[in-house]
Amino acid sequence: MMTINPFASLAETISPAAIQGFVLVMLALIVIGTVIQMIHHKNVTYFFNNAKKAKLAAEREVGAGEKTVIILKTVVHDIATTSELGAGKRRIAHVMGMYGTILFWVASVVMVFGYTAAGTTAPTVWPMIWHVGAIMTCVGGYWFWLFLRVDVLAEAHPWYRIIKADLFVLALLACATTGLAWSFFQSSGSTGLGYLFLILFITSNIVLFGGVYWSKFAHMIYKPGAAIQKNLAEADGSRDNLPPLADAPKQFGLGIKREQPKHY
Ligand code: HEM
Repeated sequence: MMTINPFASLAETISPAAIQGFVLVMLALIVIGTVIQMIHHKNVTYFFNNAKKAKLAAEREVGAGEKTVIILKTVVHDIATTSELGAGKRRIAHVMGMYGTILFWVASVVMVFGYTAAGTTAPTVWPMIWHVGAIMTCVGGYWFWLFLRVDVLAEAHPWYRIIKADLFVLALLACATTGLAWSFFQSSGSTGLGYLFLILFITSNIVLFGGVYWSKFAHMIYKPGAAIQKNLAEADGSRDNLPPLADAPKQFGLGIKREQPKHY
């Protein structure tokens, strides 16, 4: 299973153009959902107004070279390792899910557009990347959803309580899980189960990409933007209109390092 391109096997019954068309529609749904969300939630207007305010409060001009270095550092440190989640399980789970999803999506696009035509065979590395990506997404995502979600970990809600905020993580997990199950049953020759999971895989993708407007999907675009803005605001001294750090020893008692609230 791990070395078989599931889209090539599918292309024996469904035309490659239809599979590619589906991927393009999903891409269009991401753009449409994100743009409508930006207009409706006015988060981009807020972002640019905030950047303008910060510019007025700037204590010094940051040159183009310094800006480039700050942006590169933010990409390598803050974004690529989701540093805002601090050290610990939450960050490991997120990094695993994030890179898993990126591998899963990149390998999907490569295999769908490069290796579904008759007579083409994907190098085995691509199906491997696709399956490993899906497995990483499942490990990181289920770990987060079952054990690390704030409402489960700290608010004592049962793991099976589902709210609108779970739409993104659950749709992502449904895509990875049903994708793996589809590939497994298709490659093992179980035609009925193969088609069942194919339909579930298609449905999960429609929910994930069609639900961008209602879900947390677009945080993967907003979060990097906000991290860059925050680091630029620190460099030019505007600090997002926050006061400078006090020049005094940090004595907060146990404070946020106290035990997690989970005695119910
Ligand atoms: C392919 C890219 C990404 C994927 C698939 C992804 C996936 C996820 C998922 C599934 C969640 C849980 C959502 C929930 O609260 O229900 C999440 C939360 C979060 N993500 Fe991402 N993410 C991506 C990129 C990023 C980036 C680039 C950043 C920051 C620079 C980021 C920062 C966060 C933060 C701070 C949370 C909240 C985590 C928590 O509550 O423990 N994510 N992400």
